[in-house]
Order: sequence, then structure tokens, then C-alpha cells
Amino acid sequence: MKRILITGALGQIGSELTLKLREIYGADNVIATDIKKNDSEAAQSGPFEVLDVTDLNRMGEVAQKYKVDTVMHLAALLSATAEARPLFAWNLNMGGLLNALETAKEMKAQFFTPSSIGAFGPTTPKDDTPQDTIMRPTTMYGVNKVAGELLADYYFQKFGVDTRGLRFPGLISYVTPPGGGTTDYAVEIYYEAVKNGRYTSYIDKGTYMDMMYMPDALQAIVDLMEADSTKLIHRNSFNVSAMSFDPEEIAASIAKYIPGFKISYQVDPVRQKIAESWPNSIDSTAAKEEWGFKFDYDLDKMTMDMIEKLRPNMQMRIPG
Ligand code: SER
Repeated sequence: MKRILITGALGQIGSELTLKLREIYGADNVIATDIKKNDSEAAQSGPFEVLDVTDLNRMGEVAQKYKVDTVMHLAALLSATAEARPLFAWNLNMGGLLNALETAKEMKAQFFTPSSIGAFGPTTPKDDTPQDTIMRPTTMYGVNKVAGELLADYYFQKFGVDTRGLRFPGLISYVTPPGGGTTDYAVEIYYEAVKNGRYTSYIDKGTYMDMMYMPDALQAIVDLMEADSTKLIHRNSFNVSAMSFDPEEIAASIAKYIPGFKISYQVDPVRQKIAESWPNSIDSTAAKEEWGFKFDYDLDKMTMDMIEKLRPNMQMRIPG
């Protein structure tokens, strides 16, 4: 990785990954792209190009202009939004991915794209979900992710593109809020805890999902991309998770730092159904063995950091 093109660079993962990669590889070597520019640090701290990922020609132009040797394709719709707009999701998620893979092929570039716990479905073993197992998702997002994993493996086998991916769990961060995901409750809960001391969850108690703190997710991307290619038995995509909890457990963790914090429930049937179709906890052994996946943050350590980071911001946002 020397010159990196990132799509969806102003999104949930991209806005932080762009900054981390600029720190490691140099600001001018990380080309951030997104469908619109904004005034965030990711858009302002180095090269930025407006790019709609469904436009293959434009993607190729940007890749050529900067002579990139790595493509990181992050632009995608998350699970709940994809469920609301399935046709649009197919076109954006699959069309964007195909264009990014084609661009990587043309540039002889290394390639990364995230998959998700959403690639699993109701017939997948729910606990310690193995790396290689049944994958029959029942959401459009999941269908996109499984098809995407297969497509990325195909580009490796057929064209020799060095494709790599991670099946991310819910990602939690205090920087850029996610939009339209099922695991987003585990982000919102911290904002509401700091602001109001309570949270109404759209995911029901007893519903377990895998999660990871953003700094661990970013490090995992760098470690996977830097890993020795000959050691990788799997490529698209590796199970990675740092913790699994239900709303009661995250609420209990928050209550340790914000005494009196209260959780209540108003379950959203759409997102609850999606959550129930996903594993309770996935097994990251293959990632550990093949490229040394590790993480620093467990639930309490993450909670402490989230609250510490959100507190000053929240005070600034509260009027008066
Ligand atoms: N965070 C994603 C979602 O909830 C899962 O990959 O859609």
C-alpha cells in the first residue's frame, strides 16, 4: 500500500480510515473520494475527488490520475436502508463493487472491501459462527455481501487481483455516526446516555450481536492489507469480532460510568428481524491464525472511552 484510493471516504469507516492511512502512508498518498465533499477533516486533509461509485469511467480516471496501487472500496448502503430500498441497494452495492474491482484489475492494485456479519442468515450456526459455514442471508444487504465476497474471490482467482476483506460486526465510534444500520443502536445509546441519561432501544433485550470499537477495526484493516499474501488461506472475507452483547449488557456497562442510566424498549420489527437473522457471536480464529488479528477494546474499555470522548462534544452541542 503506497498510493491508496478510498471510496465512501466520508462515511462511517472512511472518515476515520482516511486519517489513519494518511498518518501512516503520508497525506498525499491517500486519495479520498465520496459522492459529495464536505468540510470534514477527511475531505480537507489531503487529496479529495468527487466520485459516484456507479460511474466506472470516472473511477478509472481518478485511479489513473493518482496512479494508485491500492483500492479500498467502502461506499455502500447499510442493512436497514438496503431493506427499505432493495433495488437501489443492489445497484449501488453490487455496481459500485464491480466497478471498484475492475478499477483494481486495470491498475494491478491491491483491493479491500468490508463484508459483514450480515452475510450470515437464520440457518447459519448462531454461536461461535465458523469462518466457513452456511451463508443464506435473508436481507438485501446480506445478499450483496455474500455475492460481494464471491465476486472478490473470483477476481483473485481469475485475474490475480490481491483482494482481501473482513466480515465486520457492528462498528462503534464517536466520530461519524453510521446511517441506516441494524447495529446502530449500540452507537446511539452512548450519545443518548451522555445527553439524556436514558435510551429507548429499537433492538430487544436478549438479542446478541457482535461488535467492535472503531480503532480496532481500522487496525485490523491495516494489518490484513499488510499481511503476507502467501499466508492467507481465506481472503473474502475474514470473521472478526471483539465482543458480543445484548442491549441489557451495554446498558449495564454504561450505568457503571453514568449512574442511573436507564434503558427502555420500543422494538422496531424490521431491524429486530434483521438482527435475529444474524449470529450471536462469530469465531475469529482464521483471522488470528492467518494474519494475527487482535483487538484492544472490550465492552467496558470501549464504554469508558466513548463516554469520555462524547462528553465535551455533547456539552458544546447543548444550547445555552
Ligand atoms: N453495521 C452493519 C449494519 O447494521 C452491519 O454490518 O447494517
